[in-house]
Amino acid sequence: MVKPSNSFHQVPLLLLLLVVASAREYNNKDIITTTSTISRNDFPPDFVFGAGSSAYQIEGAASEDGRKPSIWDTYTHAEKVVDKSNADIGSDQYHKYKDDVKLMHDMGLDAYRMSISWPRLIPDGRGAVNPKGLNYYNNLINELIAHGIKPHVTLNHFDHPQVLEDEYNGLLSPKIIEDFTAYADVCFKEFGDRVKSWSTFNEPNIQTLLGNDIGMFPPERCTYPFGVVNCSKGDSTTEVYVSAHNILLSHASAVNLYRKTYQGKQKGQIGITLLAMWMEPLSDSLRDLAATKRVIDFHLGWFLHPLVYGYYPATMRKNVGSRLPYFKDNESEQLRGSFDFIGLNHYQVFYVSDVARSLDDNSRDYALDTSAWVGGPPAIRVLKNTKEFLDFSRLKGPELPLAPWGLQRLLEYVRVNYKNPEIEINENGSPLLTSTGRNDTKRVEYLQVYIKSLLTSIRMGSNLRGYFVWSFMDCFEFLFGYTVEYGLYEVDFNDKDRKRYPKLSAEWYTTFLTKHGKERKSYSY
Ligand SMILES: *[C@@H]1O[C@H](CO)[C@@H](O)[C@H](O)[C@H]1NC(C)=O
Ligand SMILES: *[C@@H]1O[C@H](CO)[C@@H](O)[C@H](O)[C@H]1NC(C)=O
Ligand SMILES: *[C@@H]1O[C@H](CO)[C@@H](O)[C@H](O)[C@H]1NC(C)=O
Repeated sequence: MVKPSNSFHQVPLLLLLLVVASAREYNNKDIITTTSTISRNDFPPDFVFGAGSSAYQIEGAASEDGRKPSIWDTYTHAEKVVDKSNADIGSDQYHKYKDDVKLMHDMGLDAYRMSISWPRLIPDGRGAVNPKGLNYYNNLINELIAHGIKPHVTLNHFDHPQVLEDEYNGLLSPKIIEDFTAYADVCFKEFGDRVKSWSTFNEPNIQTLLGNDIGMFPPERCTYPFGVVNCSKGDSTTEVYVSAHNILLSHASAVNLYRKTYQGKQKGQIGITLLAMWMEPLSDSLRDLAATKRVIDFHLGWFLHPLVYGYYPATMRKNVGSRLPYFKDNESEQLRGSFDFIGLNHYQVFYVSDVARSLDDNSRDYALDTSAWVGGPPAIRVLKNTKEFLDFSRLKGPELPLAPWGLQRLLEYVRVNYKNPEIEINENGSPLLTSTGRNDTKRVEYLQVYIKSLLTSIRMGSNLRGYFVWSFMDCFEFLFGYTVEYGLYEVDFNDKDRKRYPKLSAEWYTTFLTKHGKERKSYSY
C-alpha cells in the first residue's frame, strides 16, 4: 500500500530560504553599467515602489500596552529559532515609528508594506479591541499618510493569537474563519478610510508546510517521518491541507465582507500574498517537465487555482485524493475571483528533476518521483536536510543566485495560466549574513537586476502594479533569528536604542527612487 504523504515538496521550499552558493556565472560589471541608468521614471507613473516588514518581526513591545502572545511569541520563547532569539524588542518600531517613517520618506518610498498584529489589536483573539493597539496603528498609519506614504497592510503575517491555538488549534479549525473575519472587520472599519491596499494572509503556502507538515514553525505539528523535528502532535499527511483550506476560506470570507460592506465607500483593493519561487526543469525531458509542473501546482497552484478557478489543481486532487478537502459549491463560488490583486514574494529559482530514487519511498503526494535542487548547472547541490543549511559556517553565505529570468518566467506563467491578474511583488530581496554590515554590494546587485527585469515583464504584458523590497530594515527573521538580515537599513541590535544606519542598498534604492524626483535628503538621524 502506498503510504499517503506530502512532505517532499517542502524541501525545495526551505532550501531557497536557506543557503547555497550560486553556480551561475554573472558579470556584475555588466549588470551595474546596464542598470545604473534606470530609475523609477522608466516605470508607469502609478507603479508603486515600497519596502516591507511585518508586525512580529519589527514592532517589539511584545508585552506592552495590552498585547498578548501570538504563536510566534510562544515558539521563540521556547528558544526554537536557530540563534534562540525572539522579537520581544525586535527593531522596536513600536517606539520608533516616527523616525522610521521619516527614513521611508527620505528614501522616496511610495508605500510601506506592514502588517497588523492580531493579538495587539484584539488580544483575546475575538471580542474586545485593545484601545492602545488601535491607537498605535492609527498613529502609524497617520504618520505614513502625513509623509505621503501609502500603507499596504497585511492582516495576518504568521502571527495569530496563541489563545486561538490553545482553544481550537488555530488554522486547523474552521472556527478560524469567523474569528479572522471579525478581526478583518475591525481593521476595515477602523483603518479602511486610510488603508487602500489589504492583503489577507502572507505566504500561507509556506506557513502551513513549515507549521503542519515538517514542524519547524509554530504550531510545530508533524508526524514521523515527515518532520525535521519530532513533534508531539499533528498529522503531516492531512493537516497541511486542512490548514491551507481554512486559510482560503478565511480569505474568501474577509474579501466577501470587504466587498459587501466597505469597498464601495473606501475604494481600496484586497488580495493575498503567496510565496512564489520559480521552478525550472533541470532538463527538457518529458519526465522533468511533468515533475516541474507538479511542483508548481503544489507550491503556487494550491492557492492560486482556487482563487482564480474555485478548485484545487488536478494534480493535487489526483495525488492527494480524499485527504484533500473540497470546496462546497457556495464556497467555491465565493473563492473564485476573491482578489483585486495577487501578491507574490519571490526570491529564487529551483531546479526540478524527476528522480526514480524517490519511488522507493512511496510516500510523496506531489513528488512521488520528483526532487529539486537549488543553485544551477553545473554546480547543482542536492539539499538533504535543513540543519545542514542552517549551518552557515560551512557555507560561503546565504547569498542567493542572481536569476531575474526566474521572476520573468514566474510572471509569464501566472499571466498565461491565471488570467493575467494584477500583481504586486510583495517581497524580493537578498539575505546576507549579519556580519556583512553596511557595505552590502551583493544586495545592490540583486535589487538592480531584479528591478530591471520587471520592465521586461511589463513589456511582455504582465499586469504588474508594484514592487516591495524585503525588508525596509533589519529585523527578526523567522528562519534565521538575527543571524541573517535583509534590510536596506541596518539596525544595531546591541544598542538599546536600536539605532538605524543606511546601508549601501538604502543609498542605491534612494537614488533609484528620487534621482529625477524628490530632492534627496541627508540621512541624519
Ligand atoms: C526522532 O525520534 C526518532 C526515534 O525516536 C529518533 O531516531 C530521531 O533521531 C529523532 N529525530 C529528531 C530530529 O530528534
Ligand atoms: C454555504 O452553504 C452552507 C449551507 O448549505 C452554509 O452553512 C455556509 O455558510 C455557506 N458558505 C458560504 C461561504 O456561503
Ligand atoms: C565594499 O565591498 C566591495 C566588495 O564587495 C569592495 O570592493 C569595496 O571596497 C567595499 N567598500 C568599502 C567602503 O568598504
